[in-house]
Amino acid sequence: MLPFLYLLVLCVAKTILLTNDDSFVSTNIRATYRDLKDAGYTVILVAPASQRSGYAGKFDVPDGNKLTADGEFLHVKAGDPAWGRDDDDEDIWYFDGTPSSCVAFALDYVIPNYYDDVDIDLTIGGPNEGPNLSPGFYTASGTMSAVYYSLYRGIPAISFSGSNLNNSYYKDGLDDDDQNPANIYAKKVVTLTKLILKSKTSIPNTVGLNVNFPLVGNEASDCDDPVFQLSRLLGPGVFMPSLKYDDLSDSFSWTYDFASGVAEDYCVVGDCNLPSEYAVFWALKCISSVTVFTINNDANTDQISTVKNIIGNVLKNTGEDFDEYSAPSLDLSDVL
Ligand SMILES: *[C@@H]1O[C@H](CO)[C@@H](O)[C@H](O)[C@H]1NC(C)=O
Repeated sequence: MLPFLYLLVLCVAKTILLTNDDSFVSTNIRATYRDLKDAGYTVILVAPASQRSGYAGKFDVPDGNKLTADGEFLHVKAGDPAWGRDDDDEDIWYFDGTPSSCVAFALDYVIPNYYDDVDIDLTIGGPNEGPNLSPGFYTASGTMSAVYYSLYRGIPAISFSGSNLNNSYYKDGLDDDDQNPANIYAKKVVTLTKLILKSKTSIPNTVGLNVNFPLVGNEASDCDDPVFQLSRLLGPGVFMPSLKYDDLSDSFSWTYDFASGVAEDYCVVGDCNLPSEYAVFWALKCISSVTVFTINNDANTDQISTVKNIIGNVLKNTGEDFDEYSAPSLDLSDVL
């Protein structure tokens, strides 16, 4: 009897929430959806109706219950419901929101209303069309925001980004070609997902992974099975958006610049021996960077005491007992 029960437990499919910022009809996300399902997972795809790259953590909700503009590639159109299921697949949903509000839409609306007894075991963001490297993208990227939003909700999460930049409609781009970058990325997503969901050890709370794939398949010569290399977010090559002002046209444009200061010699947390993910990317080898990051933004105790020494004069230990004000005993309706 025991082995049978054991087998039964092993067979309970894990559930993955899949999202992105390039919309629910992008080729990369559809290839990954297909392969995760083929691998036996329950997959619920919930993603923006239209392109929301660069929206960072913005938390948009639909303006009314109808789309006010056409969705990406006209798959859904102005006047259609602002959220709903894809006509062809009831596990694929769109929402006229941003990546982080799509995760909330999944957790707070779709799953409670349309799925019985489902808990999300893992959120996957991407694979994005284009890399998401360095703090500059960590804060700007919609894909990354879906992942850190999920982590703040207590659900393990990984962001994947491809080097294939084309904003591609799955009805144009999805095929069985084993050199199609979307298919190669999907396969690598499944590889990592299996390891994580099979492991007896969970990824620690507040810790996420950011994976960046190199150019592959028919967009690169000799790379159809990139290896994974551990990396870190900061470090040499780190870059940030910066501004350019043009006198002639009296206008601004933005560009990406290499940051100094936090980049080269500065390493207080993390494994300082690891290469930066940007350096891994720029090696232009058949290597994917894997950064393990934390959403715990508090500084460590040494850093806090340094700051305390600087501003200590204005700090006061109030002696107030703040415990009684902390959630969940707090009724927000009293204060909001
Ligand atoms: C990029 O994507 C668009 C939309 O799916 C498609 O029409 C076009 O052929 C693609 N371009 C390349 C170079 O793959």
